[in-house]
Amino acid sequence: MSEAPHGAPIKTPGQLIAAVIAGFAVPIIIIVLLAYYVDNSTRTGAGTDSLSEAEVTARIKPIAQIDIRDANAPRVYKTGEEVYKAVCSACHASGAAGAPKFTNTADWAPRISQGFDTLLHTALTGKGAMPPRGGTSPDDYSDFEIARAVTYMANNSGASFAEPAQPASGAAAASGAAAASGASGATAGGASDAGAAQAAAAMAAMASVPQTAAPAAGATQSADASQAGKALYQQVCQACHAAGVLNAPKFGDKAAWAPRLKEPMDTVYNYALHGKGAMPPKGGSNASDADVKAAVDYMVSAAK
Ligand code: HEC
Ligand code: HEC
Repeated sequence: MSEAPHGAPIKTPGQLIAAVIAGFAVPIIIIVLLAYYVDNSTRTGAGTDSLSEAEVTARIKPIAQIDIRDANAPRVYKTGEEVYKAVCSACHASGAAGAPKFTNTADWAPRISQGFDTLLHTALTGKGAMPPRGGTSPDDYSDFEIARAVTYMANNSGASFAEPAQPASGAAAASGAAAASGASGATAGGASDAGAAQAAAAMAAMASVPQTAAPAAGATQSADASQAGKALYQQVCQACHAAGVLNAPKFGDKAAWAPRLKEPMDTVYNYALHGKGAMPPKGGSNASDADVKAAVDYMVSAAK
């Protein structure tokens, strides 16, 4: 065997063993390397765990998402801070249009001294360039939420009012609607844009009312009643009644006043004192009852 005629390369048993081992090992190494090469890219397909939980959530979430509000569910009220930031800060952060500036105690001190109820009333019904409810509707922000915003603003500006009590659900919506009908009339007449525009016009008219109106009228209270009435009319009521803004009966317009004057004078006084439709209580002023009645007398005598 060792004298093989055609000179085989394997001549010893050691070489044979080496050749056999190499015959197995080399293809196996090549196969392992190939398999490793093919498998070497990052897997992203199904069955891997390369997707994070967040990616999975994003993939399987529904395309359209609807925020369903249950009308009967207990209402979640915004905090004073939220309402302030969303609405009131537009003017009160910078002091635009003469608004008392947030945290400016000097601006707020005289206002805070009027008491919380007066501030809230102003915030709900408007005053000068301050729009009723900051220009929002009772559907957006309830009276309670406006009250919270007032508390938040005042308390950050020197006051220490107690946080307003949360109303029982249902009562909030009702009182909100009632306040709105007294304040602007826009919602009372069926929430029309025209009504809102008219209310804005009235507020613009009232912005020209001198802010000293109420105190001045108060000072003349002891003077001749008809003088006081005329003064109050000129300072407050004429903002709407001179031109008939918001369908207010026009000063001196007999036809507009006649049907109203068929009612007893006490009723007419009551409307002026407590409001009616778009007519704000006391015309939005804080004049005394006597002065408001005097103003009614003055207006009524001009319409007879
Ligand atoms: C369009 C601007 C504007 C927005 C918005 C606004 N205010 Fe005012 N606010 C004013 C102005 C102007 C005054 C000063 C009125 C005045 O005394 O003549 C004022 C005054 C007030 C006062 C003091 C009233 C008083 O009796 O002295 C309170 C309280 C108030 N605003 C609350 C609010 C609240 C609450 C909001 C948000 C829901 C709000 N305001 C949004 C302009 C604004
Ligand atoms: C923001 C505008 C506005 C201001 C300011 C205003 N009024 Fe009026 N007033 C009205 C409107 C609107 C009506 C009609 C209300 C209705 O019939 O629904 C009205 C009606 C009245 C009536 C008739 C009520 C009736 O039907 O018998 C009297 C009286 C009256 N106002 C007195 C006053 C007095 C007094 C002042 C000033 C202290 C004043 N108003 C300020 C808008 C205003």
